[in-house]
Amino acid sequence: MKLFLDTADVAVIRELAETGLVDGVTTNPSLIAKSGRNIAEVIAEICACVEGPVSAEVTATDLEGMISEGRHLAGIAGNVLVKLPLTWDGLKAARRFSQDGIGTNVTLCFSAAQALLAAKAGASFISPFVGRLDDHGADGLSLIEEIRDLYDQHGFETEVLAASLRTPAHVTGAALAGADAATLPPDIFRSLVKHPLTDRGLDQFLSDWRATGQTIL
Ligand code: G3P
Repeated sequence: MKLFLDTADVAVIRELAETGLVDGVTTNPSLIAKSGRNIAEVIAEICACVEGPVSAEVTATDLEGMISEGRHLAGIAGNVLVKLPLTWDGLKAARRFSQDGIGTNVTLCFSAAQALLAAKAGASFISPFVGRLDDHGADGLSLIEEIRDLYDQHGFETEVLAASLRTPAHVTGAALAGADAATLPPDIFRSLVKHPLTDRGLDQFLSDWRATGQTIL
């Protein structure tokens, strides 16, 4: 499963990309606003940090506006994916970009019916929002499972990108539910490696090793 970072913080992306485990980045208008920077500059810098797809979201709500903004964003770098909201105009734009060979990420997906439409529109990725569904009293991870089954039964190639993940259990749950990719806030990405027994075990190994007086080299 691909792991993406869900942030527009270039310094953090640069640091975490050094792990070699970051396959791409997703942004949204709220994350760009949080960065306090110009969208074109931030997206260009992010695209230089990672080889994989970098989602940059349009803010127009009408078809022609989405097409113009999407083309502009796609022109920033070869690995930009145009992120579009799950509305009729967003779906029409996804279809148009797919015909033009431009990758898309259809976002704000909260139902399997929406995911079906995005796949039919030729979206490269669909982004179901797990955490926001949980906030709403539903089960976000079940939606990932449902979309996986639906896409597999009908041979859709759209990749399932689990978004709005808030805990490590969301990440592994999305992986087990068959998501192709997951996008993680940096703190969740960092927390994936942590386990108290790993730290305790390593301390014990090193103290036993020191007692031998040996060195490997
Ligand atoms: O990029 C979209 C998504 O991951 C948002 O997450 O935590 O704001 O629901 P959140």
